Amino acid sequence: HSRLETATRTGTVTVFGHRGAPTRAPENTLASVRKASALGTKWVENDVQRTKDGKLVVIHDTTLTRTTNAKKIFPNRAPWNVGDFTLAEIKKLDAGSWFGKEYRNERVPTLGQYMDLLNRTGQKLLLELKQPQLYPGIEQQTLGVLRAKGWLDSGHVRDKLVIQSFSAAALRTTHRLSPAVRTGLLGSPALGTLKAYTAFADEVNPRYTAVTPSYIDAVHRLKGPHGIRLKVNAWTVDDASTAARMAGFGVDGIISNRPQAICEAVG
Ligand code: G3P
Ligand code: CA
Repeated sequence: HSRLETATRTGTVTVFGHRGAPTRAPENTLASVRKASALGTKWVENDVQRTKDGKLVVIHDTTLTRTTNAKKIFPNRAPWNVGDFTLAEIKKLDAGSWFGKEYRNERVPTLGQYMDLLNRTGQKLLLELKQPQLYPGIEQQTLGVLRAKGWLDSGHVRDKLVIQSFSAAALRTTHRLSPAVRTGLLGSPALGTLKAYTAFADEVNPRYTAVTPSYIDAVHRLKGPHGIRLKVNAWTVDDASTAARMAGFGVDGIISNRPQAICEAVG
């Protein structure tokens, strides 16, 4: 695993498997995490949303159409929003065949199933609250599942978990509910606004095209709610030369669809 972290001018670069290992197995499925684990990826990034009957599920899009066969199984349920289907309905869907026939038995996992698997593989989790404005209370509910699975225990919360979102409001709520949990603000807020986020955000995670050395330096000059300097994790970087450039700029982490290749590139 030491290959995954490598010296740069700021210390180490952490590599995150974006939605698991999505070039090798269907994104945001248990198979994707198993594949990422087999490839030696220490950190995975995944997205959480909520079903109509209030269950948390791991899926990226707010509709079911791209990554499941929902249109075929429920032809009259347009626009196939995740939040319009019960968990029992979602569990009927094939979440793997779109990627490859050998994955036809993959299902959309619940967050609980996801955490059970991570507890077995030992991987760490960067969990995105996806479109939290669609799911009022999802911050508290997510923390409840994480707590039940042992992830708010002191060792886990310090070393193995970050909750990120494009929604600053959701991160503020997360921090208020569980101050020990580290949070990451997705996007690249203007420098003048950064200070305000340090009350609740430990990381600023921008699209890599927005990253410059001076932006990273400005973020690094700030300390987050735990008294540690803010981190910067860039996404989504899939080629070696961009990864090397980002490492040279001083990013703390790289979120990638090809985590194994990026590890080799910056290793
Ligand atoms: O981790 C960054 C990235 O996941 C944010 O974009 O659309 O892939 O969730 P998206
Ligand atoms: Ca995401």
